Amino acid sequence: MKIFLDTAKIEEINKWIKSGVIDGVTTNPSIMLKDGISNIRASISTIAAALGDKPVSIEVTTDDPVEVLSQARNFASWAENIVVKIPVIDARGNHCLDTIHRLEKDNIRVNVTAVMSFNQALMAAKAGATYVSIFFGRVCDEGHDAQILVQEFKRWILDWNYRCQIIVGSIRSVMDIQKAATAGAHIITIPPNFLTKMCDHMYTRETVRMFLDDSQKSTKPR
Ligand code: E4P
Repeated sequence: MKIFLDTAKIEEINKWIKSGVIDGVTTNPSIMLKDGISNIRASISTIAAALGDKPVSIEVTTDDPVEVLSQARNFASWAENIVVKIPVIDARGNHCLDTIHRLEKDNIRVNVTAVMSFNQALMAAKAGATYVSIFFGRVCDEGHDAQILVQEFKRWILDWNYRCQIIVGSIRSVMDIQKAATAGAHIITIPPNFLTKMCDHMYTRETVRMFLDDSQKSTKPR
């Protein structure tokens, strides 16, 4: 299973690259806003360079299908490892499958985003998406079981031999990460603060403290 970092903060990206646990980065317009990014091209190009051949996703910022295509092509020209995020439907509910299909045919990798249901995921896979991003937290917000959704979609991919990979995003707790991982997500995209939490445990700290104290006692001359 791969871990992507769900952030545009280059300091966090560089910090976590050193740990060896990061396989890519995802962003969206809200993350860009929250992380104070105004020069999107400069920021994404820096992230892309820091990642080497690992992918970074950037989302289109228009609903117009012609503009989506030209924006996606422009983004993809910035670096080899750029993946373009296209929502499965636009804000009016029109599907974006033609655009997804066209870009993939032109060898531009697409991450189909804002996926909340099994059928949306299935349609994205059929259109040829490289990645399908299931929004775990938002699915749960609406009272549905996101873990079952991930499990069932993974099984469908395997049954029918689709090449797309499931990215689980919209992580709200460390338990979401565990549930997504055990449901078979290929990738989980995680905000940096949760990566820190995943490593931590109060009882581990206490145990390590005990070992340190005992080692000092045992080396002290009696
Ligand atoms: C990642 O690809 C998604 O854009 C992101 O995880 C969405 O998270 P949110 O539901 O907290 O906005």
